[in-house]
Amino acid sequence: MDLRRLVGLYVHIPFCSVKCFYCDFTAFAGQGRSVARYLGALAAEARLKSGRVPDTLYVGGGTPSELSAPQIGELFDLIARAYPQSRFQESTFEANPESTTAEKLSVLRSCGVTRLSLGAQTLDDALLKGIGRRHTAADLVDVYRQARTFEGWSISIDLMYGLPGQTVLSFLKSLDDVLALEPEHLSLYGLQVEDRTLFSKRGVEPEDDACRAMYEDAIDRLNAAGYRHYEISNFAKPGFESKHNRIYWHDGEYVGLGCGAASFLDGVRSTSIDRLIPYCEAVEAGRLPTAQEEWLSGRDKLGETAMLGLRLVDGFEPGADIEREFFVEIGRLVERKLIRREGRRLKLTREGVFLANQAFMEFVPPFEDSLKGVPA
Ligand SMILES: C[S@@+](CC[C@H](N)C(=O)[O-])C[C@H]1O[C@@H](n2cnc3c(N)ncnc32)[C@H](O)[C@@H]1O
Ligand code: SF4
Repeated sequence: MDLRRLVGLYVHIPFCSVKCFYCDFTAFAGQGRSVARYLGALAAEARLKSGRVPDTLYVGGGTPSELSAPQIGELFDLIARAYPQSRFQESTFEANPESTTAEKLSVLRSCGVTRLSLGAQTLDDALLKGIGRRHTAADLVDVYRQARTFEGWSISIDLMYGLPGQTVLSFLKSLDDVLALEPEHLSLYGLQVEDRTLFSKRGVEPEDDACRAMYEDAIDRLNAAGYRHYEISNFAKPGFESKHNRIYWHDGEYVGLGCGAASFLDGVRSTSIDRLIPYCEAVEAGRLPTAQEEWLSGRDKLGETAMLGLRLVDGFEPGADIEREFFVEIGRLVERKLIRREGRRLKLTREGVFLANQAFMEFVPPFEDSLKGVPA
């Protein structure tokens, strides 16, 4: 399957019950009164961007499960009206334990959702409190069990590591508790301390050694449990890799709807206004809510393709243009044993998987010490 030919549709729901202490996503707490207006704005934006026939759907956030059951129905109706020819091969919906009910799960199934992504982060109640989450480990298990009573979808669970106060043992206990639930897919994210978050203000700094130990042990434990590590942060039982996210990593095209959403179409990446009311006002006035637009070309584009391809644990086949443009950088990374060649493919080594951010620096501007391409 050539994922470059598939087009993804991403719909952003920026509402949350609280703002978690680490989160820098376009997500607003306490804005529930704006949901009805926002759904109207999404419908208007979808009409403006209905020129494609997307193959996958991903409703992410923020917290999509903050919508009420009727609002979830309205959301899927507006998507179906704007993209009547789409037969989504995969339809993902992100849900948080504190706002997911049996009624909402039932609506999601009847709207054709095939993949439920549950944000657990950790199953340690003290840590959940310490990162600003509203739910407990028991809530996550309850919602998971309820979701399992419905047929026809797979379940993915998000966990984080490197949280303040989290020990390797506590992380592995959460991982084991999640594995006991047997989800088809798991995403593991190392804490990134982003500017403008409470953690950044508090000066939180994840410990490199502990993070590496958690990630390394998790890879081994997940492999042993039959999950394939297919992308730096993602693990799946065979056949349950996320099709939508694979479009991103294969440098494919996607349409983004909603406040702060990104699109990549015809070589142009655009990002929408990330403030709620200005976003709504723009689309209500019949305008595309574009805040930024960039045409990626030449070395920048090739570097991005290489970086995305290397996120996949199987790597990618670089074209002659990437080999030429990044001849020096690729050689340097091979020498440092961060990437290796396997047939025509380039992939991260095991060490490279742990130091991926260092490896990726070679492919992003500014290309400071680059000698630019094959020596004359
Ligand atoms: C965009 S969030 C939305 C999902 C949902 N609202 C939730 O919190 O569970 C998707 C995932 O990104 C991860 N994430 C968010 N901020 C992060 C950060 N600063 N560092 C690492 N992972 C982060 C969390 O695991 C989260 O589940
Ligand atoms: S992590 Fe999820 S629930 Fe928490 S603020 Fe961010 S988007 Fe909202």
